[in-house]
Amino acid sequence: MTAPLRLGVNIDHVATIRNARGGDHPDPVRAAEIVASVGGDGITAHLREDRRHIRDEDLARIQEATDLPLNLEMAATQEMLEIALRHKPHAACIVPEKREERTTEGGLDAAGLHNTLVPIVDALREQDIRVSLFIEANERQLDAALRLGAPVVEFHTGEYAHAILDGDSEKTASEVKRISDMAALAAKNGIEPHAGHGLTFENVQPIAAIPQIAELNIGHYLIGEAVFIGLEAAIRKMRDLMDDAR
Ligand code: PXP
Repeated sequence: MTAPLRLGVNIDHVATIRNARGGDHPDPVRAAEIVASVGGDGITAHLREDRRHIRDEDLARIQEATDLPLNLEMAATQEMLEIALRHKPHAACIVPEKREERTTEGGLDAAGLHNTLVPIVDALREQDIRVSLFIEANERQLDAALRLGAPVVEFHTGEYAHAILDGDSEKTASEVKRISDMAALAAKNGIEPHAGHGLTFENVQPIAAIPQIAELNIGHYLIGEAVFIGLEAAIRKMRDLMDDAR
């Protein structure tokens, strides 16, 4: 039987909405508690250099509020390393980060950044933080992850998600094959493969079906979809409160 597939829920965009008004609502900690209450397997949060969504203090609050493992997405910088070592999340996923990008575009060049990554990966590993590298599914990057001694890689599924949006069935099939082949190669080399980025109700299943993939990290779509699943109940509650007041 295929091993169960873990779901890490990325709660960044709850914080994006909170920050739009500068107050406390909606609190990503409440989202983390909901993830725990419905059987999610982990909380993923990306502390970006510009703090556009998750903030430093959110990390400790999330860790206090739930027993779920925290997967901290972080750029390969000294500042982020120090924060990770202070908070000791269960896992740290090293991602590329560009200030001007809207979201993480493309995987980390683990091959090209080998010398930068060595001390960061080593320092995290020494503190028993499970290191993951967010890479494109190709042999060069997988080989770099192996040389760095990363126990986990997360394959960037953005190209796959785009191929589906473009209705390009040939590219979709080749992307699934690429991710599937690299997941098998990772597992064969003792690296646990994860995947994420741009996954939705419509496109998740071919990736979820890849047997070696142990975890998916999904954020933007889930938070967006939660608006529609939850909006009806929120409007009804406001209507009731207004009517009761008259
Ligand atoms: N995994 C990693 C490493 C990411 O950087 C992101 C985006 O922050 C995700 C997963 C989730 O992607 P999405 O928000 O598109 O579901």
